[in-house]
Amino acid sequence: MSLYSDYLSLKAEKTSGQFSVYVDDEKMSLASTGIIADTVRMKPDALLCLPSGSTPLGTFDMLCRMQEEGDISFARSRFMQLDEWLSLEDESENCQHFLEKHFYHRAGIRAGQIYCFNTHAADIREECLKADAYLEAEGPVDMMVLGIGMNGHLGLNEPGISWTLKTTEVVLSDTTRSVGQKYFSERTTLTRGMTLGMTHILASKHVLLQISGAHKADIARQLYTSGPDIRLPASALKTHSDAEILMDRGAASKICL
Ligand code: PGA
Repeated sequence: MSLYSDYLSLKAEKTSGQFSVYVDDEKMSLASTGIIADTVRMKPDALLCLPSGSTPLGTFDMLCRMQEEGDISFARSRFMQLDEWLSLEDESENCQHFLEKHFYHRAGIRAGQIYCFNTHAADIREECLKADAYLEAEGPVDMMVLGIGMNGHLGLNEPGISWTLKTTEVVLSDTTRSVGQKYFSERTTLTRGMTLGMTHILASKHVLLQISGAHKADIARQLYTSGPDIRLPASALKTHSDAEILMDRGAASKICL
């Protein structure tokens, strides 16, 4: 059996509106992989946006396996960067490198298929406008894959940020500065970032938010019970007509679906 046929026979344990719960992280990743695969199968040159983080690692692995099994091809796919740390002394563990290491390299994605932010630009505002211009010409994003921060952020859109922004420079919250340490092998000072703003996220044709693990149960419950509220960036997805929120049992453990 191929992974794609496993996906076709996969059922969520529970579904309510935008929210679906899967038995474990592996099944949540398989469902996510299948949804992304369907986008690429229908539109081989789809514009995809993938997040850094531990949550999507299972999905990255399965996307590569599906390609290796011949059920999808990323040969014509295009990729837009979601977010990036700014002012790092050593950039070898930044978001761009994270995705290269965990997905692009194994998937055989060429540099020309990826739109990356230039963190060395003299004027980051100009760099944000460049990303906006790229999305104006090549977008919107067909498939926006996201994780949720412990504080509810999406990309680096921190709590309280305006939802009318396009690509923007941000000052990182204390939570992101400390949780973000997990990406680095040595203590790293995190202060600023650059992110696609909520305007681009909400303009995406399809959004897939993955939430995995019991440590995300509180923020998942807040998201489930909240209406759209700028203090909880992920709640913006409640205004999107094609946003799906996939959780594993651990993340859903404080929600009664
Ligand atoms: P995680 O990161 O997948 O590692 O939990 C998500 C995020 O902080 O946006």
